[in-house]
Amino acid sequence: MAIEKAELLQKIEAAGSLEELEVLRVELVGRKGTVTERLKAVGALPGAERAAAGKAANVLRVSVEAALAEREVALRAAETEAEFAAPFDVTAPGLKPALGHRHPVSVVLDELVDLFWQMGYQVAEGPEVETEWHNFEALLVGKDHPARDMQDTFYLEEAHLPRTHTSSVQIRHMLENKDELPIRIVAPGKVYRNEDEDARHSWSFYQLEGLVVDRGISLGDLKGTLETMLRGVLGDDTVLRLRPNFFPYTEPSVEMDATCVICKGTGMVDGAGCKLCTATGWLEMGGAGMVHPQVLRNVGIDPEVYSGFAFGFGLERIAAIKYGVGDVRELWRPNFKFLEQF
Ligand code: PHE
Repeated sequence: MAIEKAELLQKIEAAGSLEELEVLRVELVGRKGTVTERLKAVGALPGAERAAAGKAANVLRVSVEAALAEREVALRAAETEAEFAAPFDVTAPGLKPALGHRHPVSVVLDELVDLFWQMGYQVAEGPEVETEWHNFEALLVGKDHPARDMQDTFYLEEAHLPRTHTSSVQIRHMLENKDELPIRIVAPGKVYRNEDEDARHSWSFYQLEGLVVDRGISLGDLKGTLETMLRGVLGDDTVLRLRPNFFPYTEPSVEMDATCVICKGTGMVDGAGCKLCTATGWLEMGGAGMVHPQVLRNVGIDPEVYSGFAFGFGLERIAAIKYGVGDVRELWRPNFKFLEQF
């Protein structure tokens, strides 16, 4: 037995690699290893021999395990040393960490904020959970107003709701700044609506609201501003079209269209109807209008002295048009293969 033990320990000492050592470990102390079998055999011995044999087998196991652990430490140290000793290629390209990048909607938003900043606008923000008053009543959308249907939403407790549009920020900003006119702001933010989803609509999306209040602001100022904005974001050859529309909080109200970025307003691509604008040549961009005098009164601004314009449009839609994304829902799926293209 004593000889056998020395032999085993020598074998362990001689293991040249971690793989060899692992083979030995299984051979010796594995489930069917030599040492394991010897321990099991103790139970079958006659009573008188059992104690001594058991003790010897245990001593053997402990020394074998200790030797295995010691050899492992030595082999690992040797491996690390070899790694450091190997020639190091200082010209090898470094490992590049995977960096994220901005989301297409953020890119579009930054571009727009920059454009408006150049025209003297500041960025304003408001809460995503609004009171019904800020979101609807102050904007002349009464409880029974048919315009509520268009945006009616998920109600929270005590006349609160996730805002249905960023127009509520107009109200907050005017209330806070009515004594420091003029106002020139853009307000980006998330909005929520009770809306069925499809390739162009979503129940939650980002809007950019704009508001200007000063003496002598006219529809012409609104038109020039929207045109500058659309050309900046969609290209210099973009033409703006305003159509009459209705919003309770603006008078007159307009819908803004831009010439289609694909067919350039012709409605045709290679002899067939343009798919992006459904052959109309125009893309609907959002709503706008002159701030209703009663809205100004609601926030304590005198409509006899001041006038203003406001507009609001969806950012996903602009990103989709700009980058040729067929389905706005794609923008918020955690699909990195898709998002990494931008
Ligand atoms: N709030 C309107 C909407 O969400 C857009 C709009 C903003 C219209 C400002 C007029 C003035 O559709």
